[in-house]
Order: sequence, then C-alpha cells, then structure tokens
Amino acid sequence: MAEPLRIALAGLGTVGAGVIRLLDTNAALLRARAGRELQVVAVSARDRDKDRGVDLSRFAWDDDMTAMAARDDVDVVVELVGGADGPALTLARGAIAAGKALVTANKAMIAHHGPALAEAAETAGTALKFEAAVAGGIPVVKALREGAAANAIERIYGILNGTSNYILSTMEATGADFADTLAEAQRQGFAEADPAFDIEGTDAAHKLAILAAIGFGSRVDFAGVDCEGIARIRAEDIARAETLGYVVRLIGMADVETGPDGTPALLQRVKPCLVPRGHPLAHVTGATNAVVAEGNFSGRLLFQGAGAGAGPTASAVVADLIDIARQTKEGGEIGAPFSIPSAEMAPMARAESGHRTGRTYLRFTVADRPGVLAELTAAMRDAGVSIESLIQQGRQEEGGEVLVAMVAHEGPERNVAHALELLRGSDSLTAPPLSMQILEG
Ligand code: NDP
Ligand code: HSE
Repeated sequence: MAEPLRIALAGLGTVGAGVIRLLDTNAALLRARAGRELQVVAVSARDRDKDRGVDLSRFAWDDDMTAMAARDDVDVVVELVGGADGPALTLARGAIAAGKALVTANKAMIAHHGPALAEAAETAGTALKFEAAVAGGIPVVKALREGAAANAIERIYGILNGTSNYILSTMEATGADFADTLAEAQRQGFAEADPAFDIEGTDAAHKLAILAAIGFGSRVDFAGVDCEGIARIRAEDIARAETLGYVVRLIGMADVETGPDGTPALLQRVKPCLVPRGHPLAHVTGATNAVVAEGNFSGRLLFQGAGAGAGPTASAVVADLIDIARQTKEGGEIGAPFSIPSAEMAPMARAESGHRTGRTYLRFTVADRPGVLAELTAAMRDAGVSIESLIQQGRQEEGGEVLVAMVAHEGPERNVAHALELLRGSDSLTAPPLSMQILEG
C-alpha cells in the first residue's frame, strides 16, 4: 500500500472534532477506498487544554497553525478555523505557498478569496478543495464539477443555510419563538460563530456565490449577491403563508441572462420566499439543505441532505481528503478548484431584476384607522400591481396595529418596488413593509 496521506488539522471545534471522529470510526474503509491511510500528524487550535471528546494525544500539537502547515511531514492542510480573513486566510496562503494541498470548509474565505487561492493552488500545482463549504454533507460541489460537467447550467437555487431553515421550519411546526430556535441551532453546532451570518443571509450568499462560479464558470462574485435574511420574518408571516398554501424558506437563486447586446449577466439573490406546499423545497425542514441545478441536457437535478453539523460536514471534508489521496497516489490530474482554470473565470456583469416577473407576498403593519387599507390599495393601483388576495388580521386592541398581508398577481418586480416606494414614509405604516417572492416552478 502507498505511503499514508499526512494531514495537519487546524481548528478542532464542531467540524474539526467531527473529522477526527470520522477518520477514527471509518479508518479501515477509508484506507481501502483511498488506497492509503489518511493519517493526522499534527493539530492546532486556540486552547490546548479544551476537552473535545476525541483523543488528541496521538498527534503533535502546534500553537502556530501556519508553522504547522509548513511541516515537512505534512501533505495536506485542513482548515476548519473559519473567518474570511485573519488566521484562516494566512494559513491557507501559507499552506499553498508551501506546496501543500488545502482542504477547507470555510465558505466565507472561498467566497471572498476563492479565485486568488485557486490561482495560487494552480500555480503551485497543488489541490484546493472545499466540498464542505457548500451545503454541508451534500456532495454538490463535486456533482457540479464532475457529474453535471457536461451541461450548461441554466439555473441554481435552493436552501443553503441550515440554521435559517431550522429556525423557519421549527417556527412553522411548533410556533416556537425566533430567539429560542436560534439558541437551539447554536447548541446543536449548526450556527456560525457569529449567527448574524446565518440569519442575515450572508452564509447562504457565500455558498450561492461559490456554486454560481462553479455552475456558470464566472468569477466568484459574493459582493454581487442581493441578500436579505430572515430576521424580519414574524410568526404572523409564517401563519399567513400557511393560510395561503405556502411555507417560508430562505432561498438562494442564481441564473444567467443574456442582455440585448448578447452579453451574459448574472443574477444572484438570497431572499426569504414563499414556497408552495407542493414544491419539493417546501418539505425541506430542520438543518437540511437542498440544491436544485438545471442543466441543459440533464434537466433538473435535486440534491438534498444535512446542510450542517459535525458528522455531515466531516463527511464532505474527508471526501476531499480521499480525492487528494487518490490523485496524489496515482499521479492523477488535480483539476481546477472551480472546474475551469481561474484565469478563465471571467467577471460577469450583474443582471438587473426589475423586469423579472413573479408573484409577491406583501405584509404591512399599519395603524388601525379608517382609510389605511385604501391607501395601500391605491399605491398598488398607481404602481400597476394587481392584488390576487388580501388578508387583514382583526384588531388586537383599541388603536393597536393591524397586519395586512396580500399576494400580488404575476407582474414585473419593478412595479412592486414602485408601490413600496410610494408608501415610503407614510405615517399609516407602523413598520417597514416586508415583501417576499413566491417561488414558482
Ligand atoms: P467552531 O467555532 O466550532 O471551531 C473553530 C475552531 O477553530 C476551534 O477549534 C477554535 O479553537 C479554532 N480557532 C478559532 N480561531 C482561532 C485562532 N485565531 N487560532 C487558532 N485556532 C482558532 O467552528 P466550526 O467547527 O463550526 O466551523 C469551522 C469551519 O467550518 C467554519 O469555516 C465554518 O463556517 C465551517 N462550516 C461549519 C459547519 C457547521 O455545521 N458547524 C458546516 C459547514 C462549514 P478553540 O476550540 O481552541 O477555541
Ligand atoms: N451555519 C451554517 C448553516 C453551517 O447553518 O448552514 C453550514 O454551512
């Protein structure tokens, strides 16, 4: 059997400890599949004395992650520290510069620095792999890079953040409070170190930007993702959606359209959406993720599975290690990290969305006084928005606020935006309105 693949592991939190557990539990199977042993030689984290539920006494400990990455007895560095910049990025750059293969679960770093790291890895002739960075245990990066590689990808969309999905689906099922549900997601290890990344949609935007780059061959454009999270979703929105036949889900969507001059433009969005109860994404609950990729020959491909947590994420990290073990043993082609060489990942223009059409859910909280409903519907009329249905919640208390939810018929998005603009600053509104697209198809 070939020499072991020697691994340095930086970060021993939820995912790092999960990787060690997986390597221990499945050691014989991994040896057989990789054709060699996957052997951790050194580890690093902040606190050497922390009990992580795994035996670390077998490994060298190095407080300096970057020095660890450069060790002569290390072939692959696994970065499980997190953060777009700072120590994770220093480690990644240092590892690649030292000619080591790099495996990471760090979507923030790949979304911000993926092209530069890919270019460095290609120049160094080493591997950069990040399966765990998108959708936890679902092998969707590999599926797009390899299984669906024969297709022009026309659209990618799905549920890309386990924490948000856990919060929304738990609120829907139990009526639980937002803050309590988030605390439980944190306890279970799904949430980011700063959970604002989850609930504000940033984490899903990181993942969408990575998937779009692989799917469309464009340069990663995280800044180009139009992003809105779930922080403004109220229990009442979930209840209204249910009455109307929908569930609320945080959806990432990306597609490419061709402008009048023939130039392709990329539209990337992360938004809470209403999903019809019959749609496959409506049944995705808890920390599960689901990704739909539409290929021009494959048709619609749906990938679903655990999107977060120690075990599923470790599964993706170790799959990358197996790939590297096989490639380096067999002298095989390492392959460009984003499927095409980084020099060919062209920046793509950002598409406007105003001309896109769809149905929209709108929720207003308004003062309970005569004429308010007329003001809302007049704004819709003046902006050319046709109302399909409207629900007004009964008065809770004298002079209190009233919740008005409506669904607008299919029409251009710019019309809805215009209606909301007409209502901006109205003293009838007690809070900014919320609008959510309805996912069709
Ligand atoms: P944790 O917060 O649980 O673990 C982070 C680890 O990094 C800890 O061991 C910590 O050390 C170490 N660390 C943090 N800062 C430093 C530093 N400055 N120097 C040295 N070590 C440091 O994070 P997760 O395991 O949850 O996530 C790791 C990565 O995986 C992140 O990029 C995350 O986005 C990604 N990811 C996470 C998923 C999940 O479900 N949790 C799923 C998919 C991806 P110490 O323990 O000593 O404090
Ligand atoms: N915080 C992330 C999530 C972890 O909830 O999806 C998995 O990437």
